[in-house]
Amino acid sequence: MSNPPEAPGRREAVAGVRAEVSRRGVLYGGAAAVAGVMATAGRATAAQAGSTADGGTAVEAFHGPHQAGIATRPQAHAVFLGLDLRRGADRDSVSRMMRLLTDDARRLTQGRPALADTEPDLAALPARLTVTFGFGPGLFAAVGGGPGRTPPVKDLPAFKIDKLEERWSGGDLLVQICADDPLTVAHALRMIVKDVRSFATVRWTQRGFRRAAHTQRPELTQRNVMGQLDGTVNPAPGTPDFERAVWITGGGPLHGGTTLVLRRIRAELESWDAADVVAKEFTVGRRLDTGAPLTGRQEHDEPDFARLTAAGLPMISEYAHIRRARVEDPGMRIFRRVYNYDEGVSAGGTADSGLIFASYQADIDRQFVPVQRRLAEADLLNEWTTPIGSAVFAVPPGCGPDGWIGQSLLA
Ligand code: HEM
Repeated sequence: MSNPPEAPGRREAVAGVRAEVSRRGVLYGGAAAVAGVMATAGRATAAQAGSTADGGTAVEAFHGPHQAGIATRPQAHAVFLGLDLRRGADRDSVSRMMRLLTDDARRLTQGRPALADTEPDLAALPARLTVTFGFGPGLFAAVGGGPGRTPPVKDLPAFKIDKLEERWSGGDLLVQICADDPLTVAHALRMIVKDVRSFATVRWTQRGFRRAAHTQRPELTQRNVMGQLDGTVNPAPGTPDFERAVWITGGGPLHGGTTLVLRRIRAELESWDAADVVAKEFTVGRRLDTGAPLTGRQEHDEPDFARLTAAGLPMISEYAHIRRARVEDPGMRIFRRVYNYDEGVSAGGTADSGLIFASYQADIDRQFVPVQRRLAEADLLNEWTTPIGSAVFAVPPGCGPDGWIGQSLLA
């Protein structure tokens, strides 16, 4: 069967863009004119790209008090890009970089090509694309905080379970790109990397996935690569608990922002596979099939940590993951927006798989660190999981149509 003929209007629009881009010798100079042409082409292609009604053309708002990609219902695919600023970076160059990257994000998330997009057709299906930026400790050091200004993020303390690898850790700048379509993610990543290249070098990229879009009702908890329902107890976007747990308040430059702890946690799937269901459920404190606590019947039943077995032992072990991770005050919980990774298998059949554990919270020291410390001290799950990467970022607030991400910190 031959392909359907390409719509002539779209073909002309794209050809016009290409001619315009090459005529101007591309990139940063004369940008506004190119941008205008690109925007028009973007709309033309989006309308005719053959998207399903609620799929490819679905758009997440870019402007607002918070950056998108945090309270946003998790998209199916993600890539986390960690970057190091080039030597000599300062407040001025970082501001220029963020203006440029904000412009890319603003366009791409709305289904429009980036400035001088080399493949404008690929921008046509944003598939709920979000592009979220975070600033690491090194960025704050480069731009200078001024006397008495302590950077809002610092490296985490060492935890005894950590086997951190340099290639998955640290970074001055984070770009988190999420969409329901992996090709959209790949294109956005390419455009961002192209534009950031003169300011920063790539330190790591981490690709993650959840269930494919539309395979499961969005309100249901998803399973992770270990087979567990993951995300049951989590602040729900739109609730006062979420607002309090996640967004920084107080009127300072990070007001409306948050912080991100990104941990790459390897799952030892071979030995996990060897454990029986009872052991797996004992480890977490929840049933594998329903996700119910071992003291309950349904997923969202409250665990009863005081309940004992006939032998007088706690039904949910003192060392069960959910018991060690529990924070009673819902407004002080961390918000987990977790992706799986699976980078294939070794020749011997060992999986390179686990979680890209993204935790957002207003205050790392008060919310994340105490939980991670309790888990590091004693959590049965540690037998099967190993943190191999770790990075922290301050996530600046969102911006309006005339603003850029990071403006409140850098301008
Ligand atoms: C590969 C590593 C991990 C796996 C497989 C995992 C898995 C799970 C599962 C299955 C649950 C129960 C369902 C739920 O409420 O979502 C859970 C709960 C939770 N986990 Fe993890 N987790 C991991 C790492 C972590 C880390 C590193 C932290 C924080 C530092 C953490 C914090 C929590 C919290 C706060 C809860 C909710 C506890 C509650 O019931 O109050 N987890 N996790």
